[in-house]
Amino acid sequence: MAKPISIEVWNPSGKYRVVSTKSMPGTRWIRLLTDNDCRLEICTETKTILSVDDILALIGDHCHGVIGQLTEDWGEVLFSALKRAGGTAFSNMAVGYNNVDVDAANRNGIAIGNTPGVLTETTAELAASLSVAAARRIVEADQFMRAGLYDGWLPHLFVGNLLKGQTVGVIGAGRIGSAYARMMIEGFKMNLIYFDLYQSTRLEKFVTAYGQFLKANGEPPVTWKRASSMEEVLREADVISLHPVLDKTTYHLINPERLAMMKKEAVLVNASRGPVIDEVALVEHLKANPMFRVGLDVFEDEPYMKPGLAEMKNAVVVPHIASASKWTREGMATLAALNVLGKIKGYPVWGNPNAVEPFLDENATPPPACPSIVNSKQLGLPSSKL
Ligand code: GLV
Repeated sequence: MAKPISIEVWNPSGKYRVVSTKSMPGTRWIRLLTDNDCRLEICTETKTILSVDDILALIGDHCHGVIGQLTEDWGEVLFSALKRAGGTAFSNMAVGYNNVDVDAANRNGIAIGNTPGVLTETTAELAASLSVAAARRIVEADQFMRAGLYDGWLPHLFVGNLLKGQTVGVIGAGRIGSAYARMMIEGFKMNLIYFDLYQSTRLEKFVTAYGQFLKANGEPPVTWKRASSMEEVLREADVISLHPVLDKTTYHLINPERLAMMKKEAVLVNASRGPVIDEVALVEHLKANPMFRVGLDVFEDEPYMKPGLAEMKNAVVVPHIASASKWTREGMATLAALNVLGKIKGYPVWGNPNAVEPFLDENATPPPACPSIVNSKQLGLPSSKL
């Protein structure tokens, strides 16, 4: 028997039992569920990462849907338990869902929700912040100040890289990668080189137009180039940000050979998923190349860092906070709750998971639809005509 697990209950007499494995920001998501006849149970265990056994105990023998987190291992064991409990819906409170075995969910008829459309700018802003922090050695300099080591201005003190006129490289120019590219181009007037299987026409048009605008103002124009290989980006860019999804093809995308291709003074940023970089190789590279700098939001074995990384002054490290703005996190909670609610109520799936604004309007009733279900086709779920 699994041990009891502590919960907080909202609307105890609700007809549908929905479990959230964590407390989430904001209150709208709670209201949306309780106003729609859900009994909501929020796990209040203080441990950060729940085990499969903890979640089995939360699901129990009667549960319609679960809102879970990217730290949890959602596979056959949990999906079959949810199915046995009468459940049909799970939503990650995340846009990424590499913690979810979608095939196992399909086998058990469980709809899988995620939360696109609200993370784009927030995540891109963090990637841009890491780029600047690494290029200008901000964290190192902050630690130096706090240690009381500053005894006067010096010509060589914390000299870093000027971004203006340099080349920003983007690997994966989807929503977040493109938003990041725009920030670096508009903010720092960098040139762009990107690699993506799909052409990003909107991004290219933006850079062209912005370049023309700068030229008309008597400034050097910015330029863009779509690389024919990832290696081309690694060789040419001064700042490189990684924005692929994590799957078998992108595991250890950045390996010793590819690290060796990069400029000795390049900045590498990762706010996607940790295993995209071979972190042991990265530590060796940082040791051998003190002018090479890295900004990391994610790690190969989260929450741990590979040995040696914490000691590297040329690494800026933050604890997976790319989506951590109030607006985004509250929006993610709302979308996750509406994914689960919509499936329970038998609503169709929203036609465009990136156009989720109607679900986020605090002053309006959200559309009767699931904002984003990643396996809707496999489950044959109807699509919203709204
Ligand atoms: C965060 O990493 C997310 O995928 O939402």
